[in-house]
Amino acid sequence: MKIRHIFLFIFVSRVSVAQKNTMKNGLSFILRSPKVPLVVGGVRTKQGEFQHMVALGYGERNDPMFLCGGSLISPQFILTAAHCADTLEGSVQVVRINTITLETPFRKYMDIDVQKTIIHPKYKPQSNYNDIALLKLSKNVPSFIKPASLHNTSTISRKILTAIGWGRTDFAGPSSNDLLKVNLEVYSKARCNPFYKNVNKLSRGIDNKIQICAGGQRNETKDTCQGDSGGPLSYKKGQKHHLVGITSFGKACGLARVPAVYTRVSAYVPWIKSIVWKKKS
Ligand SMILES: *[C@@H]1O[C@H](CO)[C@@H](O)[C@H](O)[C@H]1NC(C)=O
Ligand SMILES: *[C@@H]1O[C@H](CO)[C@@H](O)[C@H](O)[C@H]1NC(C)=O
Repeated sequence: MKIRHIFLFIFVSRVSVAQKNTMKNGLSFILRSPKVPLVVGGVRTKQGEFQHMVALGYGERNDPMFLCGGSLISPQFILTAAHCADTLEGSVQVVRINTITLETPFRKYMDIDVQKTIIHPKYKPQSNYNDIALLKLSKNVPSFIKPASLHNTSTISRKILTAIGWGRTDFAGPSSNDLLKVNLEVYSKARCNPFYKNVNKLSRGIDNKIQICAGGQRNETKDTCQGDSGGPLSYKKGQKHHLVGITSFGKACGLARVPAVYTRVSAYVPWIKSIVWKKKS
């Protein structure tokens, strides 16, 4: 996999004017790819820390481009964002599991073919609502890879949630090959909506029933930037990761403390169950 195939950009907050201009020129291109903001300030994860995290591969099966993330929720199903199903590089072909590095993957990584893509029936590409999809794999993942649990209530008792993604740490610097994590605070609708007024793809603004807004904590300086759509927003309880959100979309880079928007998993648990754990008739 070549560096140019990594479309995940996380910028440092203090860039020079020259770098900012480079960023602007790069943006029109970046915005066409299925990327959304992650927050600067992430730290590296350890191999095995987020076993459910997968990278979605597009294009050639033997040299995929990784443009989105996803979460393993059962031995054979990945939960991701609907807008990750089809990209300018074609539809999702393969998922890479069991590695925190993409370019030089962990020696026990696996690429598994996607057998079927199931987009939520209410998702429309011209809107940001219902941005959720399931990928059925061609075979089960090995049992040592533990799927994430679905957070199934609308209330979220945790104030801080963790988002993860592969990304650069500096636009002009070398590409980060590592899976990064960042802690985010859930924003209320009132605090979030001003950032997302007059957005074409959000006819009724942020819909708290089906979306979650999260960003850097109030007194922390964390910038948002291009990150990895489809990946998880989750918390850990005991040994289990509980999946609360799916990274969906956000604003362009360079704006400090702008929250990003996540699909609210709990709102879709009945739909997910009807597909992933359907009873055999
Ligand atoms: C909701 O999630 C909890 C924790 O994973 C689980 O114990 C419970 O059975 C779930 N409830 C439903 C209705 O699925
Ligand atoms: C941010 O706020 C928390 C809670 O009020 C406080 O403990 C922490 O020290 C603050 N951090 C900074 C960088 O000011």
